[in-house]
Amino acid sequence: MNLSKGDYIGFFDSGVGGLSVLKETLKILPNENFIYYGDSANAPYGTKEYSEIKKLTFDAIKFLLSKNVKAIVIACNTATSVAVEDLRKEYKSIPIIGIEPALKPAVELKKQGQIVIMATPMTLVEKKFAKLQQKYKKIADIKPLPCGGLAELIETGNIDGIEIHNYLKEKLENLSNENLGTIVLGCTHYPFIKDKIVEFVGKDVDIIDGSLGTAKQLERLLTIRNMKNPQSEKGIVEIYNSLNKKEMIELSYRLLNS
Ligand code: DGL
Repeated sequence: MNLSKGDYIGFFDSGVGGLSVLKETLKILPNENFIYYGDSANAPYGTKEYSEIKKLTFDAIKFLLSKNVKAIVIACNTATSVAVEDLRKEYKSIPIIGIEPALKPAVELKKQGQIVIMATPMTLVEKKFAKLQQKYKKIADIKPLPCGGLAELIETGNIDGIEIHNYLKEKLENLSNENLGTIVLGCTHYPFIKDKIVEFVGKDVDIIDGSLGTAKQLERLLTIRNMKNPQSEKGIVEIYNSLNKKEMIELSYRLLNS
């Protein structure tokens, strides 16, 4: 593979969620060119079998590699948990950056109260999260909160709809506000409904996600490998989606520019 500094950086998610990570990345790497691939035809991943998620993720990465990308960001907590280690073993010549629930930054906030991790059921049962939780469980009160079904609702694009409102009401109303300090958005779809979450938990609760950390890690790796695009003009973003529907591409650009 002959990679050049000007080549694209590939982003992948089970659907539109990873656009929240691309959005942060554009702020710190504005001169890079990006290809985003959302696998909305197969979303959600978070409630699927392990082997199926792994296969879908490998297929998506093959698609990105066919576009000659110089680095890949798995902008999906679920796909990262299941496949990132095997992907790195298989494709050694290319940097592959994953995302995980931002538990470390949450602990470092040193905020009083519980840290609630909202994520897909698969992310929360996987080894990667178990290790992360193990590392911090003595110094933080961590509560995993599986949110099966929420990514699907966000995929519809109806962010202001009653379905998301009702879902969050049921999930969040019972969290004891007295003890709740921080919420970690451990699924890349959720930053798009951050405002809706605030409506239920209030402004005193910190809500964080892993997108900035992931963007910085990408920048670090490109710098170390001397792979940053030297151009001074703004880069381009090309979006692909397995659903192959005009509406999905429009929704993707709308979320990216939101
Ligand atoms: N956006 C994905 C994540 O970060 C998962 C959504 C899904 O279940 O497909 O985990």
